[in-house]
Amino acid sequence: MPKIPQNVRGARFTGWGTSLGHNTVTNEDLTKTMDTNDEWIKERTGIHRRHIGGSTAELSIASGSAALQMSGVDPLSIDALILATTTPDRCVPATSATVQNALGLRCGAFDINAACSGFVYSLVNAHGLIAMGAERVLLIGTDTLARITDWTDRNTAILFADGSGAAVLESTTGSGHLLGWDLDADGSAEEILFAERGGYIQMDGKEVFRRAVRIMVDSATKSMNAAGVTADQISVIVPHQANIRIIKAACERLGIPLERSSVVIHETGNTSSASIPLALFGDFGQVKPKQGDLVLLVGFGAGMTAASAILEWGAQ
Ligand code: ACO
Repeated sequence: MPKIPQNVRGARFTGWGTSLGHNTVTNEDLTKTMDTNDEWIKERTGIHRRHIGGSTAELSIASGSAALQMSGVDPLSIDALILATTTPDRCVPATSATVQNALGLRCGAFDINAACSGFVYSLVNAHGLIAMGAERVLLIGTDTLARITDWTDRNTAILFADGSGAAVLESTTGSGHLLGWDLDADGSAEEILFAERGGYIQMDGKEVFRRAVRIMVDSATKSMNAAGVTADQISVIVPHQANIRIIKAACERLGIPLERSSVVIHETGNTSSASIPLALFGDFGQVKPKQGDLVLLVGFGAGMTAASAILEWGAQ
């Protein structure tokens, strides 16, 4: 678990935006194509509805342009674009190239695939670029899982959806907001959650659930140790939105009350790379950080990846 060196150049968010798949699909809608029901889905996952439709580039352009607008920065002043996605529109080029052009950016652009941990992976990498002299980085987490979901498979179709969240990260003269971080992966667990090229997501749901809670708690603990903070100091936890029962179990093991957890899964379903930015920046009535709050971002996903970060909200 690397520690952030003293006096390294920091960064903070100056703008953000989100977008959701174009069509709303309720649990009731799903009962028309598979043997399931609203009560089971709500109780076992916490999901009430989800939004699907649109390409990864379309949703990224919508959230990215909202983030640029909020920050007020000139698109030409962005030094790098990082797009976290598991569902690129094409094999080649990276979808970030399409998004870079559409947003009027003139900078390096690349995709990161770390499944649902992708946004936190991107955040840590963006801080690395800023430490190396970049002034501004646009981060986007987008997934269009609907395109790799078998809509007759009740094991997966009840969970997955489309969405995007973006943020402008700018260098700061004072200390930055990132206090600690952890990135992890265990490729030996590849077979419990995967999609072949051109195929649908295959998942051993029970095994993913079992591992998810453990690796979220491990990663979050490493980040808190790196930052020198304890669970009782965390004002808001922003977990990956995969299943409300996973969020509850992880919060319980970390000793963080559920009331401090940002929960948007009822509205969004599991949007993979977009999940954490939607929970942090979206507007679904969830708990939000205030100036000076310590915020824990923690995700897990296929790979099996895990990633976490401690932010001091609004730190300059
Ligand atoms: N509707 C109604 N009944 C169902 C459904 C459904 N959609 N699915 C399963 N059932 C039934 C089963 O047949 C079973 O019935 P039985 O008791 O008569 O045999 C019962 O409900 C319980 O089934 P389980 O599979 O034990 O259900 P579980 O509580 O484990 O929930 C779920 C399944 C929701 C998939 C859960 O295991 C889960 O959320 N796992 C984690 C998945 C996850 O997070 N994936 C994303 C990872 S992130 C990424 O990289 C994309």
